[in-house]
Amino acid sequence: MNAELDPIPVITIDGPSASGKGTVAERVASALGFHFLDSGALYRLTALSAMKHGVALDDEAGVAALAAGLPATFGDGAVRLADEDVTDAIRAEAVGEGASKVAALPAVRAALLERQRAYRQPPGLVADGRDMGTVVFADAATKVFLTASAEARAERRYKQLIEKGNSASLSALVADMQARDARDTARSVAPLKPAPDALLLDTTHMDIESAVQAVLAHYASRDGRQQGI
Ligand code: DC
Repeated sequence: MNAELDPIPVITIDGPSASGKGTVAERVASALGFHFLDSGALYRLTALSAMKHGVALDDEAGVAALAAGLPATFGDGAVRLADEDVTDAIRAEAVGEGASKVAALPAVRAALLERQRAYRQPPGLVADGRDMGTVVFADAATKVFLTASAEARAERRYKQLIEKGNSASLSALVADMQARDARDTARSVAPLKPAPDALLLDTTHMDIESAVQAVLAHYASRDGRQQGI
């Protein structure tokens, strides 16, 4: 590969919630031995931190200050906020809702920018989020936009919730999915949209393994793409 064009390779995987991008990104990272950034977790941690500190989710300066000093650590399959294991807590629907709200605040996004870029370490990075290919790693040579219909994504989330023993309503999940998509897509800063040079992958009728293989094949073709062949 061309080291000058892509000093530390980054594969960006963006897309709406429950598109399967988290699982695909993790498997691609492990297949290549790359680092993995779950940027959504940082927005979720910021929202959780605001809720714990009693900071209103629309208090832009207050939430940005929390985001800038987030005492978050990732390791051994666990996410910690200071000393507390919040692996499950950040996955709660209410925290996801809050994450979508704080993610619309420009000062919060700015506060998390350098922290995300610091994950770009040898031998490479797979970054999962909404604006990885458009903003945070706009220079990445391999970009993927993973999507699926709102119904297919709601069904996946529904199955996950039922498997974990929670009750859930499919129609409510479809409505939530559409509302969150609308907020993530309509916001003025870093809206959810494919980078112009992203590979579009619709996983409505595709299983995870096929999506992983498609991303790996796209990454393998990067030299040809960079040289325009
Ligand atoms: O991927 P996720 O569901 O964990 O993301 C939670 C929220 O964070 C989602 O509503 C959008 C926001 N987000 C974002 O705005 N930018 C990112 N790079 C990642 C997530």
